[in-house]
Amino acid sequence: MDTIISQDVENIASRIKDDAAILEGKNILVTGGSGFLGGYFLDVIAFFNEHHFTEPCKIICLDNLIVGDQKRMAGLLEKDYFEFIKHDISKPFSYDGPIDFIVHAASVASPTYYRQYPLETIDANVLGTRYLLELAKEKKTRSFLFMSTSETYGDPSPENIPTPETYRGNVSFTGPRACYDESKRLGETLCMAFWQQYGLPVKIARPFNFYGPGLRLDDKRVLPDFVNNVLHNKPIVIHSDGKATRTFCYISDAIAGLFKILLSDFNGEAFNVGNDTQGEISMLDLAKMVQDISGKNVGILHKASLDKNYVTDNPQRRAPDLSKIRRMLNYQPSIDLKTGLQKSIAWYKDNYHL
Ligand SMILES: NC(=O)c1ccc[n+]([C@@H]2O[C@H](COP(=O)([O-])OP(=O)(O)OC[C@H]3O[C@@H](n4cnc5c(N)ncnc54)[C@H](O)[C@@H]3O)[C@@H](O)[C@H]2O)c1
Repeated sequence: MDTIISQDVENIASRIKDDAAILEGKNILVTGGSGFLGGYFLDVIAFFNEHHFTEPCKIICLDNLIVGDQKRMAGLLEKDYFEFIKHDISKPFSYDGPIDFIVHAASVASPTYYRQYPLETIDANVLGTRYLLELAKEKKTRSFLFMSTSETYGDPSPENIPTPETYRGNVSFTGPRACYDESKRLGETLCMAFWQQYGLPVKIARPFNFYGPGLRLDDKRVLPDFVNNVLHNKPIVIHSDGKATRTFCYISDAIAGLFKILLSDFNGEAFNVGNDTQGEISMLDLAKMVQDISGKNVGILHKASLDKNYVTDNPQRRAPDLSKIRRMLNYQPSIDLKTGLQKSIAWYKDNYHL
């Protein structure tokens, strides 16, 4: 594991170590483990195995590598407590042994790629979630975390920003983003149905734009996309007027929040996870910030994307109301955007030799 990810993992572990004690000697299934979030889940559990637990937590990782990279699991593949199974979660899965915890983080998540793979995206979030919920029921799993998205809120009207978990959303069900937004919404409905009908201990997380090391440079989400250009000495290209705003949450804050949800007893609940400490930033200001931090004056261009649906149904604003997760789980994001970008850019330079 490289230095920046190791530091993040230690930071996350220190924030959750009391709650994480229940993972000792248990089996956890993580889907999407070779992706951005899943990879951090594996690393944090491996850290507890190596430094805290006498009896390790067995990790079973499922990924079909549609967008993930097996290299993300380097260092884990030879560990006795780690098992990687190349599997498409939209197909049934059975396992011979207990499964105490499930983190379902497998889905195509980048808009560029989910527009390319709409049916695979729907299948992972609907069929995949259903099969995993059935598995959890069979195994009497103690906690099931579904990675949903803040995109379930669509394009909220101004009076619904910052957006609380109670907001019902303003989502197109036929547009080019619908394969993602709507399948996540149905994934949440499935989770709630298993909770209501069988008492299955499900939890739902709605991430608001996480970023950091481990998010592939070619992922095409906005931050790696800007950094990719800058580090290749090319102008940053904004495929819109640059006025849309987001809030960004650094990965160590995000993963600490996600573990807090998984390890809690708040079943049948959905939680926003993000960073609200600095307000929203426009895409234009974000581009300027990436340029300043990297110290390369590459310039910023506005150019329509070759992908004709790039901005269709793109939310104009997105900002979380984090009162619920603060109140119920004592969550507090701590990494400001400048620090997070410095760490991310340093990681991209190291890992892509740029
Ligand atoms: N990163 C964010 O800011 C963010 C925001 C909102 C929601 N999410 C959700 O969190 C989860 C993880 O996102 P991420 O950013 O790590 O994405 P990612 O693209 O980095 O990783 C997703 C992983 O899932 C795997 N995968 C996709 N479909 C699969 C299938 N059918 N079977 C098995 N594996 C499959 C991919 O190969 C990849 O390794 C996703 O469900 C995503 O929708 C993430």
